[in-house]
Amino acid sequence: MDRFVIEGGRRLEGRLTVNGSKNAALPLMAAPLLTDRAVTLRGVPGLADIANMRRLLAELGVEIGAAAERPTDPPGAGVTLRSADETRSHARYDIVRTMRASICVLGPLLARRGSAKVSMPGGCAIGQRPVDLHLRGLRALGATIELDGGDIVAEAPGGKLRGDTIFMGGPFGSTVLGTANVLSAATLAEGTTVIEAAACEPEIVDLAKLLTAMGARIEGAGSPRITVHGVDELGGAEHAVMPDRIEAATYMCAAAITGGDVLLERCPLDALLAVVDRLHAIGVKVERARPDQDAIACDVRVTAGHELRPVEVTTQPHPGFPTDAQAQLMALLCLADGNSVVTEKIFPERFMHVAELSRMGASLFRQGATVVVSGVRGLTGAPVMASDLRASAGLVLAGLAARGTTIVNRVYHLDRGYEQMEERLAKLGAAIERTGESD
Ligand code: EPZ
Repeated sequence: MDRFVIEGGRRLEGRLTVNGSKNAALPLMAAPLLTDRAVTLRGVPGLADIANMRRLLAELGVEIGAAAERPTDPPGAGVTLRSADETRSHARYDIVRTMRASICVLGPLLARRGSAKVSMPGGCAIGQRPVDLHLRGLRALGATIELDGGDIVAEAPGGKLRGDTIFMGGPFGSTVLGTANVLSAATLAEGTTVIEAAACEPEIVDLAKLLTAMGARIEGAGSPRITVHGVDELGGAEHAVMPDRIEAATYMCAAAITGGDVLLERCPLDALLAVVDRLHAIGVKVERARPDQDAIACDVRVTAGHELRPVEVTTQPHPGFPTDAQAQLMALLCLADGNSVVTEKIFPERFMHVAELSRMGASLFRQGATVVVSGVRGLTGAPVMASDLRASAGLVLAGLAARGTTIVNRVYHLDRGYEQMEERLAKLGAAIERTGESD
């Protein structure tokens, strides 16, 4: 298994272009299941999760090819997807267990093919992760849903879903992929669907943009109430995947933890206001470098000195502070001058990084969903174990700032969500290498 070997203490400097968003791309890639026409996505990141999604879609009869490149394309691949064989509707456990986001084929399959069989995803390193809200939403659209041999077996009576008013809120707020599933399914339902307590994440807005380009009639995406007027058919479309706000947040924290000066190009600043707010409070400068650019994808300069102030941060649904950037910010707060309080309100168990950061000399006290971070003067390099994707990113950041050598084992977790992370960090001046030795 690959690992990263990091010699800490180098200041990051230079420029970096933000890649297309993983969490936007996954539901976008499922949208072509709603039509038999070709859909082209541009700026698809080269990640392990995207490769898994391609594998799943191929099993579901989707032909996937490279789109002709154009000079205006964003970084990443251009991919054309066409649902050529609409008789296959089984997303098997083999694939679903490697990637929970496979669940986002459920809504599109059901809406277009009238039935779907998707293996029930299990828990993962960040917690239990139920799918009850997805199922509640699809049932409200008239689907019958049963569990059989670990599979979710869903049928649309008479092959057609029908619109209704659906409440998508749960104990931890709304659900991003649940909203994506119901939104996609509602585009082909009979009549009007109103999704209340819809997720407001920018990735939902990106999905609504593609669905609208395919001919769907959607109002209110990005707000807690989305209205969808069903249509009989959707067609082909072209769409550029939005830049990855979590990748951007991660490199912002990387610049900050090394006292660096990094220009992020194509940064989705509008989607990062809560992150920027916390970074400002910590004493990190985050500024638009070119005020003439659209804040959906603009140049942003991140600079930090060595004095970091402690803050409180609570993860929340968008536009609150994203759970996907909690571990990275915690790594930064380990070096702040005083006590910070980090509370996780989306995935209360998402603290795999806490024990590993402690091995590097961080002073952390966890009680339930809250961690008190007492800033220390410095971290010390150590061998650590990557667990979930973002916890692993937090460990890499800590390694960049630590004295001595940090070895991050099991970096396949990072490859799920960060394209060539070590190369990108090395270009900014980090001493980081991937080695193939076993852990
Ligand atoms: C998406 O997962 C992201 N994944 C996650 O990113 C992200 O952490 C999460 O949203 C929250 O922002 C993708 O987009 C592929 P949820 P999702 O359903 O949609 C509870 C990363 O590191 N819940 O919004 O699966 C759930 O347990 C990842 O890139 C229910 O109770 O998350 C959680 O507490 C990991 N019932 C909360 O809602 C349900 O049916 C939010 O989860 C569904 C969710």
